Amino acid sequence: MRTLIIIIVMLTAWIIFNANTQVNNDGWVAPASYDTLKNPFANNEKAIAEGKKIYESTCWSCHGITGKGDGPAAAATNPKPADHTSDKLLSETDGALLWKITKGKGQMPAYEQLFSKQQRWKLVCYIRELGKNQTVK
Ligand code: HEC
Repeated sequence: MRTLIIIIVMLTAWIIFNANTQVNNDGWVAPASYDTLKNPFANNEKAIAEGKKIYESTCWSCHGITGKGDGPAAAATNPKPADHTSDKLLSETDGALLWKITKGKGQMPAYEQLFSKQQRWKLVCYIRELGKNQTVK
């Protein structure tokens, strides 16, 4: 019986260890089917403004007010919140960002329940806007 418990404990530790290394090393890639989705609000000024409102109430604590991933709660996350102005992010499709906001990962919350799909698209619009502001130097 004791041996069995030791085996179970070790197995659990091994599974947790592997799950952790996966969170740290794995790239986070959205299903390819999302890459072809079209943002219904692309370049829509009103949608950008609405996305900004949500971003500045819900997302900034981790991602920072300018989207650099340096919000006050960022110190407590591992990995760090994504920099929404980075080249990596700029290279992703709108659909991929929508999927990530919808599903979440680790400490990045899933917003499928909290925000409607339209609101999530508007957040994508605003993230694009953050990227534009940063690249104009
Ligand atoms: C509690 C902290 C926290 C909050 C709040 C948060 N995020 Fe995140 N976010 C993260 C972390 C951490 C990651 C990185 C996850 C990973 O790569 O494992 C992330 C990643 C992302 C990504 C993926 C970027 C990439 O590299 O592709 C997007 C998009 C994103 N967040 C959008 C949002 C939006 C929009 C909101 C608000 C509605 C939000 N996040 C709120 C912590 C947070």
